[in-house]
Amino acid sequence: MRFLLPGLVALATTALADVTYNVVGYPDTPAGSFAVEIKGKTYKLATTPTTFPLWSANIAGASASSSYKYVKLSDTGAAVQKESFTRSFANKKATATVNEFFQRQVTQNNLPKVPQVFKDVRSNTTPNFDDSQIGTIHVTADPAIFDEMVKNPLDEERKAIKASFRFINANNVYSVEEVKMKVSGHGSRKFKKLSFRLKFDDDKGETFFNHPIVKLRAESYDPTLIREKLYIDVLNSAGIKTTQGTWTRLYVNGKPYGFYLMVDDVEPPFLSNTFHNGELKPKQLGSLYQMGSHVLGLEATLQYNGSRTADYHPEIYENKNLGANTKEEPMAQLISFFKDLQDFNPALPGGAAYWNERLNLEDYLRQMAVEYLGGTWDGYWWKGNNYFMYFNPTTNVWQWLPTDFDSTFSNGNLKDVEVPYKQFAASRLRRANKDHPLITKLIYKNKEINAQFEKTLLTLAKGVFNPKALEPRINAYEKMIQDEVKWDMTIDRSKNPGKTLGYTIDDFHKSITGPVKNVNNGIKPWISYRAKDVPKQIASGKNALAAQAV
Ligand SMILES: *[C@@H]1O[C@H](CO)[C@@H](O)[C@H](O)[C@H]1NC(C)=O
Repeated sequence: MRFLLPGLVALATTALADVTYNVVGYPDTPAGSFAVEIKGKTYKLATTPTTFPLWSANIAGASASSSYKYVKLSDTGAAVQKESFTRSFANKKATATVNEFFQRQVTQNNLPKVPQVFKDVRSNTTPNFDDSQIGTIHVTADPAIFDEMVKNPLDEERKAIKASFRFINANNVYSVEEVKMKVSGHGSRKFKKLSFRLKFDDDKGETFFNHPIVKLRAESYDPTLIREKLYIDVLNSAGIKTTQGTWTRLYVNGKPYGFYLMVDDVEPPFLSNTFHNGELKPKQLGSLYQMGSHVLGLEATLQYNGSRTADYHPEIYENKNLGANTKEEPMAQLISFFKDLQDFNPALPGGAAYWNERLNLEDYLRQMAVEYLGGTWDGYWWKGNNYFMYFNPTTNVWQWLPTDFDSTFSNGNLKDVEVPYKQFAASRLRRANKDHPLITKLIYKNKEINAQFEKTLLTLAKGVFNPKALEPRINAYEKMIQDEVKWDMTIDRSKNPGKTLGYTIDDFHKSITGPVKNVNNGIKPWISYRAKDVPKQIASGKNALAAQAV
């Protein structure tokens, strides 16, 4: 069963000079409620089991020219807390508010646009992923079962639990009776604040606006909670098909649970929607592999390690969709890519043509340029981690898909992340057993692909990866989420196992402009460093070539 209330149509009446007020809020006590105060008079708002925690009422005789504020009421209807500011309508002829949030002054933020450097390929910016506002997720689950799950977060094989789900933002209330919920991530499971994966029943048409599998990312590593979202902005600007992200509050069983970045999960529905207009079923999709580097110091280098699936550690290369492979040899298709990469001689001409037949090369180069610019030390280039490869059966080439961008806009305390890109590449090449050949052979050693990469890198540095393009956006994010981050920090997680890095609201602001413990570079200084350094690197490379030619 699915309930969808588009806008406020369901609540609006036809009477003139009436206004409908809508506020999202959790009363302090079970029988508490909310009200709206207009011209010194208080009017009670009501909720229903299918809209809670949204409180609404149509107030006869109210006018949009009057200012108002929301009031939290006790069980007996006494005022417990009044909003600390006054609200007014921008449109004095309005007959309803959007769904506002108690004590949040700005519902819809006017975010400065990030310049679009390459063609915009976003197809998944649906109403629930409107990033100019902060949504609310209201989850209810059996408290004992939910508790058991969060007390044992390291069990990756645990079955998902059932929960009911409601999402509310300014113009939408979306509810389903049952989603499958589980703890998500690898390293992030070791933290007190956990990340979650929510799966909707898309067989029943419950697709959460075409995003049937989402993750709520805790962002425990990042004192700002901004890095991942900003990285997605840069990927979008670079015309890279990627998961989208939007901030949201999570409440579980009526209690504050945390402030999260909601992102798509890279799974068959995402692939179908992103690459095939939603037309392909999982069985018709190509093979998908997830790459990680979370065991035994191994990395998903893409080095050839033998012709059999058994030659590859299943946690480093995990087949997530079978595609054209057999059940016995799920790695076969990817292994043949490894073999081609091993056999490729970067000194021969025709490198770009060769790789264009196998890989969405331009897109891959843009992604590597963003990895380098972002100081993404936990991605492919530096760490052999956090990416997917999808064999697109429509184009018959591999598609690169990055994931998990919390470790960006910093050097992660690793000095060789700060170095010029050629030195960065050469440092991988020196490690015979851990070379990253898709970097070293293509970007570093092949002249033709290198020229294409440098052009892309420079275009992105000049077009988006610089203070002028990104700082207005960062400033807007800082303002937009600072109260939410403060709220997140008030939540008592002492009973959860796991660690916390103990960031404060001070660290939130400071990590935008400079170093804090564990994070060596602020977001802004990192951007301005790369923005200045990249054009210099490329110019000095050209000068060196010119000198050789003389
Ligand atoms: C490559 O093979 C070796 C020995 O067969 C094995 O120990 C290693 O884990 C393999 N590497 C990867 C990345 O799977």
